Amino acid sequence: MNRLILLTILVSYACAYEVAPTEVSLLSDGGVIKLLIQINVTCGDKLTTICLDNVLYLILLLRRARDYFSCVPLQCEQVTTPATTTAQSPTTTTASPSTSHGTTATTTQGSTTSTVQPVAGTLLFEDTFDTFDLDVWEHEITAGGGGNWEFQYYTNNRSNSYVRDNILYIKPTLTADKEGEGFLTSGTLNLWGASPADLCTGNNWYGCQRSGSYNNIINPIQSARLRTVNTFAFKYGKIEIEAQMPKGDWIWPAIWLLPKRNAYGQWPASGEIDLVECRGNLNLAAEDGTQVGVNQMGSTMHWGPYWPLNGWHQTHASVNLPDGKTFADGFHKYGLEWTSEGLKFYLDDTLILDVDPGTNGFWDYGAFDNTHPGIDNPWANSPNKLAPFDQEFYIIMNVAVGGTGYFSDSFTNTPKAKPWLNTSPTAAKDFYDAKADWYPTWNPDTNNGEDAAMKIKSVRVYTV
Ligand SMILES: *[C@@H]1O[C@H](CO)[C@@H](O)[C@H](O)[C@H]1NC(C)=O
Ligand SMILES: *[C@@H]1O[C@H](CO)[C@@H](O)[C@H](O)[C@H]1NC(C)=O
Repeated sequence: MNRLILLTILVSYACAYEVAPTEVSLLSDGGVIKLLIQINVTCGDKLTTICLDNVLYLILLLRRARDYFSCVPLQCEQVTTPATTTAQSPTTTTASPSTSHGTTATTTQGSTTSTVQPVAGTLLFEDTFDTFDLDVWEHEITAGGGGNWEFQYYTNNRSNSYVRDNILYIKPTLTADKEGEGFLTSGTLNLWGASPADLCTGNNWYGCQRSGSYNNIINPIQSARLRTVNTFAFKYGKIEIEAQMPKGDWIWPAIWLLPKRNAYGQWPASGEIDLVECRGNLNLAAEDGTQVGVNQMGSTMHWGPYWPLNGWHQTHASVNLPDGKTFADGFHKYGLEWTSEGLKFYLDDTLILDVDPGTNGFWDYGAFDNTHPGIDNPWANSPNKLAPFDQEFYIIMNVAVGGTGYFSDSFTNTPKAKPWLNTSPTAAKDFYDAKADWYPTWNPDTNNGEDAAMKIKSVRVYTV
């Protein structure tokens, strides 16, 4: 009973809501003794019952008790019926959802996985960067360049990814700062690693080991990419991220989601959801004169039966800020509301992209049968119109640089032209040879070089 008193005090303290005396019972389930806890939380005249049958999950919950119970206006609008407690599985906590959208999520702590189906509007995941929680954010370690021959390699280094004053920074730096200039043309970058936290995470496109030569230099930029693939993934939900984009020519920040399991096969068959992508360039214009640098952001979904068939152009929106403002001037909120009916993308709470493929789903929406008769539909056996976006996705945040895909050769950069062609076999060398053109735009000598960093203030995911 001591545990019960402690729990009641903790929750009352965190809540400012009335917490009813809690019921604790011990169950024996197939020889496993389990602690079953029922907490009643009262908000006005509404009552929410939270049932837990997993002590590990309880600890996680208590760590976030303040947010879970208090910072979320506790379902005062959304009345909840008392939850049912299920005791079939020793690791599953279930509460009745109040809508049919049915958010599901997996949060993995150690070896235990909890599947949670709480009421709509419940905070499911939050990071406000009190610390750099490496239990949540895993570094990717690779030089592969994301399939675009990007010029950075991703590493786990506190010069490139760090938390300070409740802000997560992802900052690109020069590889030569660490390894010396000669390394680029004659060194070997070996990212294979020897212990679990060091292991190369992507060998595709020579991602784990590269040797430099005069024309084929080692990735001249060092940066970071973080993901939650092993710790947090969700299906349907509302995600909101407050972030400030980096400024500097050829910097390419992104906050996006990838499928945890590739249920429909390899990219892009299992989908990709990009909340925000941006180009750090100060003065970059498309052929029609549109500014496509740091005063523009884009949201995109990628989907198609196989590469390069991809209907992304049907599910893309970009927004330009007026009056010379840029996405690097301050924080903006990038949001996505994802239900079983569709996906709505928001910039600072304004709807910018609303995707509903219709009842026949993305296969018909992309008209793949018309353009490529006879090919297989990877989503054919899913009953959900949203397939492939009917599976769990995880969060990725990274800062890339250059590459041969995202910066079109038809763009005009001012005052210094783009130093490489996307068809060049020596793209990274051409880019790096022009360092005097672009590196000053990163402002490396002011603000600790952080103008070139993406800054993230918060990441939140709610149920829908
Ligand atoms: C929680 O509320 C439900 C519904 O009113 C009630 O049946 C249950 O006994 C309460 N549990 C506790 C521990 O107070
Ligand atoms: C991290 O990067 C910085 C800047 O390039 C470098 O000076 C430092 O040696 C690196 N640290 C490790 C542990 O590799």
